[in-house]
Order: sequence, then structure tokens, then C-alpha cells
Amino acid sequence: MGPDQVPAGIDVQVPSVARMYDYYLGGKDNFASDREAAEKMIEIGRQMGNDTREIARANRGFLGRAVRMLAKAGVRQFIDIGAGLPTQDNVHQVARRHVSDARVVYVDNDPIVLIHARALLASDPEVLALEGDLRNPDAIFDDPRVTGHLDLTQPYAVLMVAVLHFVFDDEEADRITARVRERLGSGNHLVLSHIYVGDAGDRATQAGQQVYSTTASGGIARRGYDRIAGYFGDMEVLAPGLVPVADWDPETPPEKVDLVRSGILAGVGRVR
Ligand SMILES: C[S@@+](CC[C@H](N)C(=O)[O-])C[C@H]1O[C@@H](n2cnc3c(N)ncnc32)[C@H](O)[C@@H]1O
Repeated sequence: MGPDQVPAGIDVQVPSVARMYDYYLGGKDNFASDREAAEKMIEIGRQMGNDTREIARANRGFLGRAVRMLAKAGVRQFIDIGAGLPTQDNVHQVARRHVSDARVVYVDNDPIVLIHARALLASDPEVLALEGDLRNPDAIFDDPRVTGHLDLTQPYAVLMVAVLHFVFDDEEADRITARVRERLGSGNHLVLSHIYVGDAGDRATQAGQQVYSTTASGGIARRGYDRIAGYFGDMEVLAPGLVPVADWDPETPPEKVDLVRSGILAGVGRVR
């Protein structure tokens, strides 16, 4: 997208977390402000001994493996909240390798994500892209376009992959996840990944917070293991549990994990 195609009301001088992530993944849908902020984060990561781009790719790998596991188990409906800019192996593409009629609703609060998603998906009747906010899960579950596209009485999964940390108020994150668990209902799945505080010292955390405070999302929260585990409430967390994104693989469970350097933790829960 060139600057001349930017919709009214979008200030491309303000970095977007969606476009920064696109840059980490090697995508082209980003502007100078996004690249500058992303490079700052890459440098902060480097100082901490982490490779931000590698962690972003590992997060994407987790998303693919989780969707594959669920699709192979027969889940054919997905609501992907904080879907991000379309990239390779989007949810519907992974799911369809296993269930040909998989239906997906992509939700994001970044209008540029929606423009790209709709352009890519315009001709696909099984896929819907909607503007929506994770902060209001009921509005997503009750949206007539969602209930018209999916049959929520049948098995489905909600994905909240690398998005909850943009809700940086802890109480709000607790409220959102509690509500999502309630709405999911028995037998349904939550796929979640979240930036992990690891051994990021105060300086690195503050430096990262400083960069993300300049984005349209306004900040980011690194959280500890227990808090992230708490987002699954009393769901059954499926094997291999809540582990570093790179290690999450039910087909090859990790023997030993290095939490400290993991960057992002990931897990899949099923409502009992
Ligand atoms: C780091 S990207 C993750 C994309 C994708 N889920 C993945 O893991 O590959 C985070 C996405 O969440 C979106 N996002 C941030 N806050 C959100 C909110 N409150 N509601 C919906 N989407 C949000 C951003 O616009 C961005 O596209």
C-alpha cells in the first residue's frame, strides 16, 4: 500500500503494532514510522540476547501448529482476534489442509489490516474479516455477521495470538479473558500467546514500553508465567502446556524449555 492509498484518518507517522509485526516477519505492508519503531525493538531485543524477528516467526509457527492440531481434531470454525496483516499460512489456509470447509472470522482493530484482509479474502465466501476490539468480546461473539457466518453451537476455537499484551491494564486483561472463557462454552478452544517477561531487566522493559507507547496501541505488557497461565482459568491446557512459542508442538513435545529467553509463551486450552 502506497501512502496515497492510505485511508482518511490514518496517520502513517504513528507506528502500528500490526505493521511493526509485519516488518518483523519480513513483510512489505509497513511504513517508515513502523520500521523505525520495529528496528528499535529489534535492537532492544538484541541487547537482551533475543532475536525479535525469530520470536515473531516462532509465534507464527505456533499459530500454524495450533490450528493444524485443532483442524485435525475436527474443529472447522475459528475466530482469530487480533488477526494481523495477512501473511503466509493464515488460519484458513492452514485449517483447509485438514478440513476443506473451514470457516474463519478474522477480527482486528487496525483499519489498515482490514483493508488488506478484505482485498485478499474478497472472493472467499468461507472467510470474513471484521473490524472489532478484543476489549469488547461480547460485541464480537454477538455480531450478527459472526453469528451468520459461524454456527457457534458447533465446535470452534478463538485465537488470541500475540494480542492480549496490547491490553496493558492487568484487570482489563483478566476481565476480557474471563469473558471469553464464559462465552466459549464447553469443549471449545482458546489459542493464546503472550509476551513473557523472561529475564528482561527493568531497563529493557522500560525501553520496550517506551517504543510501544508511541504506537497507536499505546503500550505493551510483558507478563509473568502465572498471570499468563491464569488466562486459561480452569480450562484444560492441552499438551505440551504453556511453553515458549518455539517449543509448542503437540507432535514433538519439548523435553526441556528455556523460559527465560523464550520471548513469548503459548498454549491451547479447552473449556471443560
Ligand atoms: C502482533 S500482531 C499478531 C498477529 C497474529 N495474531 C499473529 O500472532 O501472527 C497483533 C495484532 O493485534 C491487533 N490488535 C491490537 N490490539 C487489538 C485490540 N484491542 N483488538 C483487536 N485487535 C487488536 C493489532 O492490530 C495486530 O494486528
